[in-house]
Amino acid sequence: MDSTAVARSHWSSRWAFVLVTAGSAIGLGNIWKFPYMTGTNGGSAFVLVYLLCIAFIGVPLLMAETMLGRRGQANPVGSMRRVVAEAGAHPGWIAIGFIGILGALMILSFYSVVAGWILDYAMRSFSGFAGLTKAEAGAAFAALLADPLRLIGWHTVFMILTALVVASGVTSGIERANKIMMPALFAIIVALIVYGIFAADMAAAVRFMFHFDFGAVRREVVLSAMGHAFFTLSLGMGAIMAYGSYLDRGTSIMRTAFYVALADTGIALMAGLAIFAIVFAQGLEPASGPGLILQTLPLAFAQMPGGAVVGPLFFILVIFAAWTSSISLMEPFAAFLIERFGLSRRAAVGGMGLVAWLLGIAVALSFNEWSGFKILGLGIFDLLDTLTTKIMMPLAGLLIALFVGWVMRRHHVAEEMGLSVAQLGIWLNVLRFGSPLAIGLIFLHVVGVIG
Ligand code: PFF
Repeated sequence: MDSTAVARSHWSSRWAFVLVTAGSAIGLGNIWKFPYMTGTNGGSAFVLVYLLCIAFIGVPLLMAETMLGRRGQANPVGSMRRVVAEAGAHPGWIAIGFIGILGALMILSFYSVVAGWILDYAMRSFSGFAGLTKAEAGAAFAALLADPLRLIGWHTVFMILTALVVASGVTSGIERANKIMMPALFAIIVALIVYGIFAADMAAAVRFMFHFDFGAVRREVVLSAMGHAFFTLSLGMGAIMAYGSYLDRGTSIMRTAFYVALADTGIALMAGLAIFAIVFAQGLEPASGPGLILQTLPLAFAQMPGGAVVGPLFFILVIFAAWTSSISLMEPFAAFLIERFGLSRRAAVGGMGLVAWLLGIAVALSFNEWSGFKILGLGIFDLLDTLTTKIMMPLAGLLIALFVGWVMRRHHVAEEMGLSVAQLGIWLNVLRFGSPLAIGLIFLHVVGVIG
């Protein structure tokens, strides 16, 4: 059994938990990934399935994962070990914890490379984008991807930033960083929306994202949207479980989960609207892929009044958003090393950071030197993204739903959740039937077993 410190750290308040969990959820997934995936998956069809997945799969699982962490009072593996023992269940269920910490490590490796792109753009934005043309914006992004040293350099900087915060501990590092960065991020997104309304094509953006057409929902769109719902809420990767383990008893898990999901979805939709308003106003290609925000926003900053200030501010805030998420990707594995092997926090963070950094180098090289190297037809970046987002996260989610719904003792769950009998019943039934059915059907559908 993992030993846990007697005086385990706790967030300073309920709001602090909402904030750090929202900090984990809101990140590159919202500002970088959601817009480009909406673009490549046909717009509103993707948005629709994504919203359904957040509401019916995401929120119930967010509650379940938080609950497991608080019940277990340890890192994801340690927590699972405890709750599995308490339920008298087969130790195989502890796999949930291992899938989480491994997945988080894999995500961190490519997350840090993408955050590195943003760092590069932040630096460039200080000299302004004045006079930038559409063609130049595209070429600049291609040039960045073609330059391994620049990619690796920024990836290294970002990994160090992440490690520094996690090494400082739960409240003085993680919580403090979030308290400064999250409100600032919100303000700048509101500013971009205002820009979109007055200076870009917000009407076209709204049409593209919200003109729902069920007929346009295709197979791959559904899996992508479900995977993204997991990614954006940080589900199944131990991050939520680790954060939940620092949560005080007595805080309503249901309420906090709602707030987090609401904030996360709100920011994603706002970022999408702001970006597509520029895309359509500039006649850019919505389906241009992972480079979307880097090929569109500099154009807006080049033209908008005050763009020389808003530009750097925006990139700095995206870095903040990414940072508060990457912290939550590093914490689960680090906490595992600390609690399981008695490492100091510094050593644990150093070890975990080093492995993720090395893997990130392979990711950076997959855009240039190693671009011909494919596994299952995918480059290293795509492989890590697909493996985690489309497979490991839904799988962990499925197992969590089944474990909490069917295996844990009901009175333990009830004690932890503090819900009314009716609320508990509804939520447990969603976990027992709804989530497994939905995740299972989506998998089978995509594999082509059912039509
Ligand atoms: N939710 C983060 C985002 O949307 O950028 C990414 C993430 C963080 C995924 C933590 C998984 C995780 F455990």
